[in-house]
Amino acid sequence: MNVLEIKNISKSFGGVRAVDNCSFSVKKGDVIGLVGPNGAGKTTLFDILSGYVKADSGNAYFYTQGKRINILKMLPHKIANAAGISRTFQNVRLFSNLTIKDHIYIALDNEDTKFWKNIVFKDKLYTMLDEEVSEYIKKYSLEKPLNTLVSDLSYGQRKLLQIALAMLKKHSLILFDEPVAGVNTLVKRKIEDIIRELKEKGETMIIIEHDIQFIRNLADKIVVMDEGRVLKEGVPCEVLEDKKVMEAYLGD
Ligand SMILES: Nc1ncnc2c1ncn2[C@@H]1O[C@H](COP(=O)(O)OP(=O)(O)O)[C@@H](O)[C@H]1O
Ligand SMILES: [Mg+2]
Repeated sequence: MNVLEIKNISKSFGGVRAVDNCSFSVKKGDVIGLVGPNGAGKTTLFDILSGYVKADSGNAYFYTQGKRINILKMLPHKIANAAGISRTFQNVRLFSNLTIKDHIYIALDNEDTKFWKNIVFKDKLYTMLDEEVSEYIKKYSLEKPLNTLVSDLSYGQRKLLQIALAMLKKHSLILFDEPVAGVNTLVKRKIEDIIRELKEKGETMIIIEHDIQFIRNLADKIVVMDEGRVLKEGVPCEVLEDKKVMEAYLGD
């Protein structure tokens, strides 16, 4: 059963064809590894699927509760809340002067418009007990007091917090943009464990990652993008041995 069907999506920035007639689909419970050299259009595709960037053409059908919806016509908060697509960012997007707990409040919120209210009137909108929040973030290997400022977290801890936040809300598809890029071996192993556990729970995911070994271990299917196009898709062992795929990487 397909959860997502990406059909002929294209997007240009000025003269650059960032995404070029891109199509593939995602089945329920699948872990898709989205790989390709820098500038292949992977992040732009995620930006389109989460509503931050408007595609020039194409469609993306998302299946939820027996309905088919074209998410390209929806605003980011609707995609996140109504459709249930969660994502993490390649460049960690957190507020350095807010605490772990503040970020949990923001993530628990339902509309972008309520965002600041949650910080200003946090006690009124409080929906999770401190112990619950502590337990929750611990599951994501974040053993830090809730009042820790993001500026006091290491890069790896911020990556972990970002994953914890993406998982907090009800969702049926998760988009991970380079979850282990730039983290040390220890954090990388933790993130790999977290993602493997999510996979075992049956979560559906698309993971952009440069670390081929990491992707080979986790993915059911690999989609290779190059210059905005899908160069090849299939099971990991087959795709990663393909000559064209190797060339795309060596050319990077
Ligand atoms: N907001 C933007 N404005 C202009 N060009 C962009 C923008 N976002 C991405 N690009 C360009 O689109 C292409 C694809 O980028 P990106 O999607 O970030 O690739 P990847 O994530 O695969 O490395 C690159 O050439 C990049 O410079
Ligand atoms: Mg990218």
